[in-house]
Amino acid sequence: MKTYLRILSYAGPIKRLFLFYALATLLAIFFGLVNLSLLIPLLEVLFSQIDIGDTLAAASRPEFSVNLTYLKKLFSYHFFTIVTTHGRMSALYFVGIMMVISVLIANLFKYLAEIMATELRINVIHNLRKMLFDKTLQLHIGYFTNQHKGYVMTRIMSDVQEVEYAMNYTFRFFFKEPATIIGFFMVLCYMSPQLTWLALLALPIVGGGITAVVKSLLRRTAQGQASLGRLMGIVEEVVEGMRIIKASSIHSYVLEKFKRENNTYAKINLSTLLKKSLVPLLSEFLGVLVMALLLIYGGKIVFSNESPFTASTFITYIIIFSQALVPVKAISRSLSNIQRGLAAGRQVFALADTQPAIFNKQGARTIRSLRQSIAFKEVYFSYNHKPSVKRLNLTITQGKKTALVGPSGSGKSTIIHLLSRLYEVNQGVIQIDSLPLQDYDVQSLQQLMVTVTQETLLFQDTVFNNIALGRTEASELAVVEAAQIAHVHDFINTLPQGYQTVIGAGGSKLSSGQQQQLGIARAVLGKPSVLILDEATSSLDSASAKLIQESVDRLMKNKTLLVVAHRMSTIRNADEIFVIDVGEVVEHGTHEVLMQQEGLYKRLSTLSYQED
Ligand SMILES: Nc1ncnc2c1ncn2[C@@H]1O[C@H](COP(=O)(O)OP(=O)(O)OP(=O)(O)O)[C@@H](O)[C@H]1O
Ligand SMILES: [Mg+2]
Repeated sequence: MKTYLRILSYAGPIKRLFLFYALATLLAIFFGLVNLSLLIPLLEVLFSQIDIGDTLAAASRPEFSVNLTYLKKLFSYHFFTIVTTHGRMSALYFVGIMMVISVLIANLFKYLAEIMATELRINVIHNLRKMLFDKTLQLHIGYFTNQHKGYVMTRIMSDVQEVEYAMNYTFRFFFKEPATIIGFFMVLCYMSPQLTWLALLALPIVGGGITAVVKSLLRRTAQGQASLGRLMGIVEEVVEGMRIIKASSIHSYVLEKFKRENNTYAKINLSTLLKKSLVPLLSEFLGVLVMALLLIYGGKIVFSNESPFTASTFITYIIIFSQALVPVKAISRSLSNIQRGLAAGRQVFALADTQPAIFNKQGARTIRSLRQSIAFKEVYFSYNHKPSVKRLNLTITQGKKTALVGPSGSGKSTIIHLLSRLYEVNQGVIQIDSLPLQDYDVQSLQQLMVTVTQETLLFQDTVFNNIALGRTEASELAVVEAAQIAHVHDFINTLPQGYQTVIGAGGSKLSSGQQQQLGIARAVLGKPSVLILDEATSSLDSASAKLIQESVDRLMKNKTLLVVAHRMSTIRNADEIFVIDVGEVVEHGTHEVLMQQEGLYKRLSTLSYQED
């Protein structure tokens, strides 16, 4: 229930619609009942059961009061007046017209209630998804391990969908159907308390029977969903890796994998659908069974002639009872759906309540520019258990070009992740202008230091927008300038629509080198005061890499540049080079100093030179 109320709280400012919804629903139920109750006079006229005694009893207008008896008496008064003054046929017309009017009003309120319920539902789901997406963006990168990626996707897409699906039922489930059942049973009790006891006993029979079948059905459905999920996973893998699949001979492997899952899914689906078609049959059977019991028992009361329970009232009673069964059946059918929706809702909130490991502390400072230096002091960090960075000490000075070199897996990218605060250090401290990284506002740090990595995230959009990326204020001139620094301007001009050419999702229409160049253009456009290049030109040929490095160096003159590169030519002119091995600084100094030592730098440098 708590989960349900929390879900509903996402309705936002239109919350007060609930009240109107409740009111409209109650009115719809009331007029529905009026409509059914009109059957009694109708039947009595048809069966000629009106005697002069009744007519006289109803001859005077009843005293006003707010209860069912008054309404009944008032109706009888008008009805019998018509019967005595205009005859039976006119009375039939009267009842007919009243029925049409009451059903019209009932449906009008039903429609109003439906409109409000739909509006509330759509709003709730819309806000819920938005909240979840916002929360997800705030989570730290360490949260998104491969296993968690699927988890997050499932929460945002399927679970919210599941909640949405359940929401279709909830208003009815929690309000309309119970109110209908109560309303109908009140009227039934008024008509015959004796019979209504039996009718009440019947409810669990119908409700319980249907719930049992639906529950077993849902277990199957869940298995089906899981299988469908796996099937989608396979398709996704194949579509993403199509290039590689086409180029190699793994067709049959993929096909076999797909076939197996597809078969499983078909089998589960078949059995689910067969069971599903049982539900309406069972529901009808149980309904009629209970009705038959009531018929026999109620008939007995009518025949006994002791009570004022007439045949017309009895028939109406049975009809109203059959109508009261409809919401009972609906509730039992939707019970499991609601449970599933609530379970999904709990999952959604579990993700929503995950505290981001990295967040702005209170009173975090905004940083606009680097004044002195960035310093790693005795920093330790491990992703899992194996340390990736150990006792790291290094200083990046403002206005200088600093380089990190070292073998693959030595921890260079990790150092940059720590600096970007994608992960928090385990021990030690990273200081910016002598203050710990944590003291600064995360967003302002992101603007201060811009990182270009090996991979560039490109969107299905124009080249221009891919460089400007959300900077609405970026002028055409600035974008062209940035592209020139990345030496990609000439290439862009050869595209059919120049800067307005749409590049495929993920940059699939570009070479990996061109993708990197766009990444560099994007980074330099903002003229960051600290630029970090982590293998940013690794896919380019040496000559292009050198050209780009030279123009970036020019741009970043007097600003701070941190470069990670395997290609030594791009870092030779660095003011300070740190050589990293197994997460530690093993040597540092300028190129000239390091070349005089017979260390790792010299070895790496010689190898790189030979490659070039
Ligand atoms: N997300 C991660 N989870 C667990 N271990 C990781 C993760 N990322 C990197 N590592 C490990 O941390 C160590 C350092 O990796 P890092 O990416 O920093 O190396 P690198 O110096 O940038 O290498 P390269 O030159 O190949 O880019 C490696 O042993 C790597 O296996
Ligand atoms: Mg790396």
